[in-house]
Amino acid sequence: MTVDLSTRYLGLEIRSPIVASAAPYNAQPEMARRLERAGVGAIVLPSLFEEEILAEEIELTRSLEQGTEVFAEALDYFPTARSFTGAADRYLDALERVKASTTIPIIASLNATSPGGWVSCARRIQDAGADALELNLYHVAADPRWTAADLELRDLEVISDVRSATAIPLAVKLSPFYSAFANFAASAADAGADGLVLFNRFYQPDLDLESIEVIPRVALSQPWEMRLPVRWIGILRPQLDPDVSLAATSGAHSGADVAKGLLVGADVVMMTSALLRHGPDHVRSVEAELREWMSAHEYTSVSELRGSASAATVEDPSAFERANYMATLHAWAATPG
Ligand SMILES: Cc1cc2nc3c(=O)[nH]c(=O)nc-3n(C[C@H](O)[C@H](O)[C@H](O)COP(=O)(O)O)c2cc1C
Repeated sequence: MTVDLSTRYLGLEIRSPIVASAAPYNAQPEMARRLERAGVGAIVLPSLFEEEILAEEIELTRSLEQGTEVFAEALDYFPTARSFTGAADRYLDALERVKASTTIPIIASLNATSPGGWVSCARRIQDAGADALELNLYHVAADPRWTAADLELRDLEVISDVRSATAIPLAVKLSPFYSAFANFAASAADAGADGLVLFNRFYQPDLDLESIEVIPRVALSQPWEMRLPVRWIGILRPQLDPDVSLAATSGAHSGADVAKGLLVGADVVMMTSALLRHGPDHVRSVEAELREWMSAHEYTSVSELRGSASAATVEDPSAFERANYMATLHAWAATPG
């Protein structure tokens, strides 16, 4: 049976729902080419961080001011913005090189926490040829003076600022830590997000017991982590405007995981950990497994499969919500041994 894997994400027609999510190696043209050859539908570049853009601006201002103090009259002393090669310039350069080496959509990524002048960088990313932009809103709500409503308003402001600065499709990558997630997801779409990427995986710091220091720890995901995006995409798909794209990220390692994401209503399923663990060619076996599962279950296309097990279509939609909690705990008690 022929299976059509093409799908639509952020208004882009892509050949496969398997997408390489933001990861450092995706910015290397050779790696991007290998991912394309292995069959991914699109590639998300690693994030350019708001802090990097701001540090670059501060550095640029400082060097301009130094010039003013020392040789106010010597204009050729001033470094031009073009000759200043900082993080943003390096990012744009990598984007252009990856674009030139591939034919699939390349999605740039900006990681931000606050509204501000750095947003103009989004337009530079657009001008450098990105097919879409993913805005990663990664913050930890650690300040007791900020209420949930304050933080949500700030995030919505960032989304609408980036939306106003660009015309390319905009996805927003969210954490699951919003008190009323369904409400915030709908507000993010209203603020201008064309799609939501669910979810950001938070990296928990660890303690080194010898140096007694807090150390960063990046642990690759496990397949069970896919359950969180599966639940939320299943809940949100029937409630959001059908034009709002949904991407599942966290814990997708196999063709079966991709099938689950699509079944609950994701347009694409993204992968990083599995590709870091097994290399870009892992995409081939994920795709083969997905095709095999679809054929065995008589799905001929992604559009036929997508959303066929969301909260709108399953027999018991409460299984995505609180009822599942009780059933899960009772099932544990009933398990012998
Ligand atoms: C080493 C590493 C680097 C990452 N860098 C970024 C990044 O720059 N921007 C971003 O939005 N996500 C980043 N992520 C998160 C991934 O894009 C992905 O959302 C997350 O790992 C969950 O998916 P997975 O279970 O397939 O790994 C990174 C993940 C890893 C493991």
